Amino acid sequence: MDSTQATAQETGCNRKTVLVGVTGCIAAYKSAEIVRGLQKAGVRVKVVMTEHACEFVGPTTFRALTREPVAVKLFDEPGDPIHHISLAQEADAMLIAPCTANVLAKLACGIADDLLTTTALALTSPMIIAPAMNVHMYENAATRKNMGVLHTRGVHFVEAADGYLACGDTGKGRLADVDAIVAETLKVLGIGCDLAGRHVLVTAGPTVEAIDPVRYISNHSSGKTGYAIAAAAARRGAEVTLVSGPTALEAPFGVHVVDVRTACDMLAAAEEAFKICDVAVFAAAVSDMRPKNPADRKLKKGEADEALSSIELVENPDVLATLAAAKTSQVVVGFAAETNDVLENAQAKLARKHADMIVANDVSGELGFGTEENKVWLVGADEVEDVPRLAKTEIADIVLDRAVRLLED
Ligand code: PMT
Repeated sequence: MDSTQATAQETGCNRKTVLVGVTGCIAAYKSAEIVRGLQKAGVRVKVVMTEHACEFVGPTTFRALTREPVAVKLFDEPGDPIHHISLAQEADAMLIAPCTANVLAKLACGIADDLLTTTALALTSPMIIAPAMNVHMYENAATRKNMGVLHTRGVHFVEAADGYLACGDTGKGRLADVDAIVAETLKVLGIGCDLAGRHVLVTAGPTVEAIDPVRYISNHSSGKTGYAIAAAAARRGAEVTLVSGPTALEAPFGVHVVDVRTACDMLAAAEEAFKICDVAVFAAAVSDMRPKNPADRKLKKGEADEALSSIELVENPDVLATLAAAKTSQVVVGFAAETNDVLENAQAKLARKHADMIVANDVSGELGFGTEENKVWLVGADEVEDVPRLAKTEIADIVLDRAVRLLED
């Protein structure tokens, strides 16, 4: 048997193979990011392209990314006369992204007039389709019918997104978010779904405590850490509630976001989700204090308004400590933002706040607030894990790995 004819099981270990089909669409360049996203999850990727797709992005790009031959024409694999069959057999799933209206129509009718559609017809493993096209083509009754037909045959769809389209129109038709497409494909493959059926609560971002209608007390949290954890938990199959202070970040795919401003709002919103969650991660930088009597008009400097030079503060509720004190079976993960004695302070917080783990970070230097990377220690009752400097997205998975272990204990 030719090496390209190995079945999915024979490709080694438990590594799954995804055949990514790329069709002729302006969004074809995004397929490269999709390939990288799947590879990051440990998936072996092979690519098949239509000839029209090659007008938008070259096979060399995918050959370099996958280190595998890239198939375009039915007869361009000299060592394998029935290439469409071997490609279909190798695949644990086929993902067509972007998928044009034309290819959708062919798939719905069973037309097989090039390598991609012939392979799709020979496929026995699951198929995922992420369509991309003009809004009117997307909404056309023929396209909707074709999608319906494929849906009833068990094809998984990642619906197109709303927005500005390359043709100048606005509406539904943009290729869905790359993360969403990768997440759906991994879900279909059953990869990394160790939080499936679990509820995860995450707090993120700063809180904002009003002094008067124009001034407030807050901090430098960007929300990146909490959002990365929420996105990772959703990718791993969890139902995620993200209680977020004000940030400039987009809601992660598949996450239920509850926007709040103050510590008191954050506690109220988190309380509900905490009752039903399995894991709660408190990454928010909550203001410890708030003005006792926020003014309802702008305070002026000078003698008339001494209130501005002396603001009376009261303590905010501690969201983590309040909820953890009432925990039943939840795994509770807190954070500690420290400028000195990082591990000692984190250990004290672990005990004082009834957490199962504290993610400690040193915010006295260049890392912590607003950065893409961080350096953390995972502080548990019996051990401290020193995590090297990594992207916050990578730290998110490491924190969740540990939370999953605590869940299973
Ligand atoms: O959002 P980024 O820009 O990515 O920045 C990330 C971060 C620095 C904010 C994050 O890594 C972090 O350290 N978050 C916790 C910040 C913090 O408030 O730390 P703390 O040591 O003051 O609080 C300890 C724990 O108690 C935290 O889990 C905090 O969410 C929680 N807390 C604190 C006070 C309060 N009133 N309610 C709380 O729930």
